Amino acid sequence: MSENAPAPLSGKKTVLGVSGGIASYKSIDLARLLALDGAEVQTVLTESAASFVQPLPFEVLTGQTPIRRMFPLEGGKSTGDMPHISLTEDADLIIIAPATANIIGKFAQGVGDDFLSTLLLSAKPPALVAPAMNPRMWASPALQENVSSLRERGHVVMEPGVGRMARAEEGLGRGRMPEPGDILLAARKILLPDPDLSGMKLVVTAGPTREKWDAVRYLSNRSSGKMGFALAGEAAKRGADAVLVSGPAALADPPGVRVVRVESAAQMYEAVKNEWADAHALVMAAAVADYRPVDPSARKHKKGDATLAVELERTTDILAELSIEKGDRILVGFAAETDEVTERAKEKRERKGLDFIVANRVSGDEDAMGADASRAWIIDSNATEALPVLEKGILAGRILDRLAKMWQNIIT
Ligand SMILES: Cc1cc2nc3c(=O)[nH]c(=O)nc-3n(C[C@H](O)[C@H](O)[C@H](O)COP(=O)(O)O)c2cc1C
Repeated sequence: MSENAPAPLSGKKTVLGVSGGIASYKSIDLARLLALDGAEVQTVLTESAASFVQPLPFEVLTGQTPIRRMFPLEGGKSTGDMPHISLTEDADLIIIAPATANIIGKFAQGVGDDFLSTLLLSAKPPALVAPAMNPRMWASPALQENVSSLRERGHVVMEPGVGRMARAEEGLGRGRMPEPGDILLAARKILLPDPDLSGMKLVVTAGPTREKWDAVRYLSNRSSGKMGFALAGEAAKRGADAVLVSGPAALADPPGVRVVRVESAAQMYEAVKNEWADAHALVMAAAVADYRPVDPSARKHKKGDATLAVELERTTDILAELSIEKGDRILVGFAAETDEVTERAKEKRERKGLDFIVANRVSGDEDAMGADASRAWIIDSNATEALPVLEKGILAGRILDRLAKMWQNIIT
């Protein structure tokens, strides 16, 4: 998505059904994400949900008053309206998040005893269901039969996540509501069946590497990983099978992305080589160490008064190695330079046989490393495109626009 592209779900009408459980509060974030993505969102709260969350945040975030009751009629435009029918006729997608065992049961069995369950009686598949409940409830045969029956009818029932349950003493179990970002991705998948990166396995690298010197010390750099994480997250939203190989970075896994965490340049090389075997494209946004200590010690070096020289050796040049097996696959590099930024990046692109390279400055006022925004130049064999300073999520979109164009040429 470029800076001025419409939000992906603009024009799409969604109904967000919220039933009553501890995870109900997370649906506020989902409402926010859907609205940010451009969707119209009509929230429907069950009576139990209203015991867990207030309607106000939904109203503020979506601009529409949540519907709570069947009687007296709410959400109708005139007295003759039957909003439980008109909403399902108009909606492009009905999402139930969190979905309690109760609402799943009513949906599967055709019970309509409140507004949300009555609305679901006329819902066209696929509705998107994000269950959240205690693991024993999730495992119960009745619940599992209801889930199977909904799936057989063409509805999408997401797998709940594994995690710490609401009560700490219950420990880990399957029953957590899928994360709002993952529900948004599932919604996009249903509503936008052919995003421009679908079918592509894309490997993205991110972050610094750490090269061990002794038991407690290492050589590293200031890379935060923000660029690579933004790229992988955006690529997943655009339908790619995105794999992120990241050095140490204090960032959460982006929704829909498989993340492989590594430490050293050697580990990153191994991980990327494995993923590259069946990948269609690789974007190397990581700041991989060029050198590592020759003889790392398992113990901590003692300090002394004399100066200390640490002997360094070259690490494997990952891009150079992988470009040998490039074929007609897409290879994109990054160049982080302090001086002669575009000249050096051009030279690097040619030397490594890259389809294009993204050049950044890593000094002065526009230092890209660790920053949330950066000025970049995208350089291919024909031209250099100078971009303005862009937030890294937007810059990721620009880079993926290029990738998508190449991918569309490959597959058509
Ligand atoms: C504190 C508390 C937490 C609850 N959490 C859940 C839950 O996570 N999942 C679930 O299926 N039911 C949960 N319940 C039970 C539901 O709220 C109950 O089945 C209710 O009838 C659901 O109504 P609804 O499906 O119309 O929202 C919880 C109940 C309480 C009191």
